[in-house]
Amino acid sequence: MQSTEQTEQQTPTQAPGLLAEGRTLGVIGAGVMGQTLLRGLLQSGLVQHRNVWTTAKSEETCKRVAASLGIAAERDYRARIADAGILLLCVKPSQMGVVLTKLKQAGLPEDVLLISIAAGDTIAQLEGMLGTANPWIRAMPNTPCIVGEGMTVVCGGTEAREEHLATARRIFQAVGLCRVVDETYFNAITALSGSGPAYIYLIIEALADAGVRVGLPRELALSLVSQTVMGATKMVQASGRHPASLRDDVTTPAGCTIAGLLMLEDGKIRSVLARAIEEATRTAGQLGQPKAGNSH
Ligand SMILES: NC(=O)c1ccc[n+]([C@@H]2O[C@H](COP(=O)([O-])OP(=O)(O)OC[C@H]3O[C@@H](n4cnc5c(N)ncnc54)[C@H](OP(=O)(O)O)[C@@H]3O)[C@@H](O)[C@H]2O)c1
Repeated sequence: MQSTEQTEQQTPTQAPGLLAEGRTLGVIGAGVMGQTLLRGLLQSGLVQHRNVWTTAKSEETCKRVAASLGIAAERDYRARIADAGILLLCVKPSQMGVVLTKLKQAGLPEDVLLISIAAGDTIAQLEGMLGTANPWIRAMPNTPCIVGEGMTVVCGGTEAREEHLATARRIFQAVGLCRVVDETYFNAITALSGSGPAYIYLIIEALADAGVRVGLPRELALSLVSQTVMGATKMVQASGRHPASLRDDVTTPAGCTIAGLLMLEDGKIRSVLARAIEEATRTAGQLGQPKAGNSH
């Protein structure tokens, strides 16, 4: 399904009906992202503990997640497939083939909505690998979903209707912002917002180190930097102004800000960031590899 781009604001989505009566939401892959989404969804109240379950490759992960989230978590989830309404596939692209084979063997009902967050796996690859008429949504979230400030994009597959995109939006709006985009943008978005938190953490760490270099205690430096990053972000979002215009407000003639900016430009900060995103985009495009021969 060709999706049109829409902006979605974060809303405390409490409306009933995410799942039909007696159906469940299963999260396959209880790793960093699987747990992040589970936590966010449970905290938002969009799903209840009793109608959510998860699975992982190892018994250890299952036990740990069952204890920390208070939901069912078992290695062998085949018996749960018959009642599933939505499956969130949160495994690595290299694990996707094994998972889809298992779902098929378990008799996956064709009305189950499948949502994949695997970087690099295209809708066409996913539909082709499974070979059923299930509706697919491809999503790219990021880790700040855990604090309700995630950024997720979604697009729909050939069997996905408006209601399926709406369901996916409700899920990801429960943990941040969600936009519907064309699939052609996915590799670039994976690089920019999927990987993005890592780049920002590195910048925060580097600025905090810089504060230490000029004599500040580390704890104070980190608190100054993290609040400044958050404040600047809110200024961009709330004002709708171009970042260069906001930067001008801070930059007085012959002042210290312009002196610092000049050093950043000397260090080619713009082209370094652009090259980083370019390389990450290229790598994202190589993540969806053929799945034949993968083993659990
Ligand atoms: N991390 C991010 O910031 C991020 C952002 C956006 C999208 N993504 C995408 O999210 C997906 C998951 O990434 P992640 O960082 O959460 O990885 P992860 O922490 O390694 O989690 C993967 C999970 O999948 C489980 N698993 C592996 N094989 C399985 C199988 N055959 N059946 C069921 N579960 C299985 C693993 O179990 P064990 O714990 O027992 O090993 C683990 O819990 C990837 O496709 C990635 O591209 C990640």
